[in-house]
Amino acid sequence: MRAPKGVVLENDAEIAAHAREIYIQAGRSHAMPPGNITEMTVEERQLLAAWFESAAQESATR
Ligand code: HEM
Repeated sequence: MRAPKGVVLENDAEIAAHAREIYIQAGRSHAMPPGNITEMTVEERQLLAAWFESAAQESATR
């Protein structure tokens, strides 16, 4: 079965390419994983958001 919307997150390059969508779907909102099927914790979501925000900050100041 293929992941919807061409979102494949199997390696670093694919994760980097979808970083903003991952941030929105799993960091800022709880849309993903659906129904929190993999039981992501609040701490994991905060870590994910911090990861994206620090990377965004870096590229903004470069
Ligand atoms: C932390 C883990 C996950 C991340 C980061 C993630 C990320 C994403 C992203 C970025 C999209 C595209 C959203 C859009 O542009 O509309 C998406 C869509 C989708 N994902 Fe996930 N996903 C995760 C886990 C899962 C799991 C475990 C399932 C299934 C059990 C799943 C099922 C879906 C479905 C069905 C869609 C299409 C939803 C729609 O179009 O409304 N995802 N996901």
